[in-house]
Amino acid sequence: MVPGFGLDADSAEYLRRSFGTPLYVLDEATIVRSIGSFREALGRLPNKTRISYASKANSTVAVLQVAAREGCHIDVASLGELAAAEMAGVDPTNITFHGNNRSRHELEEALRKGIGEIVLDCLEDIENVAALGQASSQVSLRVNPSLETGLHPKIDTGSALSKFGFTIADGQAKHALTCALDLGLSVTGLHLHIGSQIFDSELHSRGLRALVDFCKVCPGNWQLLNVGGGYGVSYVDEAPLDLNQLFTNLGAIGADAIIGIEPGRALVASAGVTLYTVGAIKHVNGVRMVAVDGGLADNPRPALYGARYRVTCPAKPNSVSLAKIVGRHCENDVLIEEALLPHDLRGGDLLQVHCTGAYNSSMASNYNRYPRPAAVLMRETGAVLVQRRETIEDMLLREVPLGI
Ligand code: LLP
Repeated sequence: MVPGFGLDADSAEYLRRSFGTPLYVLDEATIVRSIGSFREALGRLPNKTRISYASKANSTVAVLQVAAREGCHIDVASLGELAAAEMAGVDPTNITFHGNNRSRHELEEALRKGIGEIVLDCLEDIENVAALGQASSQVSLRVNPSLETGLHPKIDTGSALSKFGFTIADGQAKHALTCALDLGLSVTGLHLHIGSQIFDSELHSRGLRALVDFCKVCPGNWQLLNVGGGYGVSYVDEAPLDLNQLFTNLGAIGADAIIGIEPGRALVASAGVTLYTVGAIKHVNGVRMVAVDGGLADNPRPALYGARYRVTCPAKPNSVSLAKIVGRHCENDVLIEEALLPHDLRGGDLLQVHCTGAYNSSMASNYNRYPRPAAVLMRETGAVLVQRRETIEDMLLREVPLGI
């Protein structure tokens, strides 16, 4: 996997002066290298292959533009993500639409826009897409291989109790396929997504094997086998995933259709850092508590998944003593439980939290009515603003005060 991006003290200070904090900073070259490393590793498969970028990881339009320019298809899970892909100029035929509960209206909109692939996730999808007339060139069926993954329950989507797709083991997948064919749909793709932050490449192999076995039990015109995303990223000290090994293993399974993958996190996480300014520093019960000007609203992952992050202070690189980094929200929002920071850290110093390019800006909220941060893309030519900072006026635009 590609080494993560980080800012030196001068660049960090320049970005703060130009754009303020908290600030999402993304590095174009790291995104390009990450896509390249997948493309290279996929070359180990004898099959034709396809990389779709799972835009839920970061749907900033500029990021979608970079991913599309680098040859990725784009996977969207809502009409909002589809609109962002459209704004990025993505060719609709390179877009896949996922989701476990889409209304007929949403499916109709996506098909009307000419998306290239629709993934059927429930019987309602099958009825709706058939009723609308199959208008995407590729219809795929999402299956659930019921694997024991050991992943965090919130991001484990390929186990027996997952809400996604049709379970293979109890015959639901076969039944769904029969229903789709009976209603005149031409289903030529199979899809699964086992979960996220997977480091055990054997899980991906078991996923692909499940698809290949399903094709044997249900012969058909299978053109695309999509094994989803979930490729693990090293946030702190996790051993990086060996992509070459992973795809060599997948190649050995002997599938003969196009093999699709859908990485989100692995293409953008390590390309991003978030810059924060240090504010209050307290000593509470012997713990040095460092408050920054962000937290839960711009990065809900520590609170949701117990996610861990690495932090550095670019201007004071000798990080030697323990501190807890907290946010500014009205609860105990801990961003990093045990951070190593300089002992002479002061209010006004800049901190950068690493590996925040995925599932930070796309999961940000306005909790406590804090405007969402701006996002900047580091390009060869310098830093460019790609998402302006939200304003308090933006947040109040939707309000409809009573006439009391
Ligand atoms: N394909 C499908 C159908 C998915 O649902 C997902 C992620 C992906 C691909 C990309 O997975 P990735 O390569 O990024 O792991 N909010 C959570 C992650 C949720 C992932 C949901 N689906 C987090 O912050 O960890």
